[in-house]
Amino acid sequence: MQITRNTRLLVLTGAGISAESGISTFRDKGGLWENHRMEDVATPEAFARDPRMVWRFYKARYEHSLQAKPNPAHFALVDLEKQLDRNFHLITQNIDNLHTLAGNRDPIEMHGSLRRCFCTGCDAHYAMEEIDLEPEIPLCAACGAPLRPDVVWFGEMPYHLDRIDSLLKNCDVFLLVGTSGVVYPAAGFVMTAKYLGAHTLAINPDASSKTEAIDEFHLGKAGEVLPRLVREWFP
Ligand code: OAD
Repeated sequence: MQITRNTRLLVLTGAGISAESGISTFRDKGGLWENHRMEDVATPEAFARDPRMVWRFYKARYEHSLQAKPNPAHFALVDLEKQLDRNFHLITQNIDNLHTLAGNRDPIEMHGSLRRCFCTGCDAHYAMEEIDLEPEIPLCAACGAPLRPDVVWFGEMPYHLDRIDSLLKNCDVFLLVGTSGVVYPAAGFVMTAKYLGAHTLAINPDASSKTEAIDEFHLGKAGEVLPRLVREWFP
């Protein structure tokens, strides 16, 4: 499938695009969910039960993410945005900020961001860098209530679903990069896009991630395959 400047392209990225930046995925061997029980660190119930443990987990991920740099796959998406301009839209399930750091204009962070937190009492929002991360449970400067990471946990509603719905209805090509496609609603986007008439592409080094919703499957690592595809589309 040839992408041109007139193609309305919608991209969905998952943890796999950041693997080559040294950030663990969730479900691969050695992934985050192999060493942590998701129910212990990524649900509202876990935070109510043991906020210290949840904060320890996210502080470690935040600090690790500060060291991470975008890789050639992230930069290929910046090149694509330069070519397609307003016809390019990017949704990410990642919370690592690497798309922004690479230079994409407006990545839709549907699962939130490690760079932000908010108050469980008064809903004040903060950048992580402006709060005191020393206390085991960081507190709101305005009202003193516990802060929580601004990430979407299991059982919570992802962000920006209305905007995503409209983008799914208005894309010609839907490109999946580095996602296992098991966490809904993101996992359903490719089927919705295909059903609504889009051509669907996926990039993944795991052949078993190919499903019937994918028209064109590119086997390999995002950092190798994506820059090559972009060079083919825009020589
Ligand atoms: P997963 O860990 O479930 O899947 C990562 C995918 O990336 C797998 O299909 C891998 O084969 C693929 N992969 C690994 N290395 C790659 C590479 N170099 N290039 C391209 N692909 C590669 O991560 P997600 O699908 O992002 O949600 O997980 C979805 C959600 O589950 C996350 O956003 C998170 C998690 O629980 C929440 O925390 C709400």
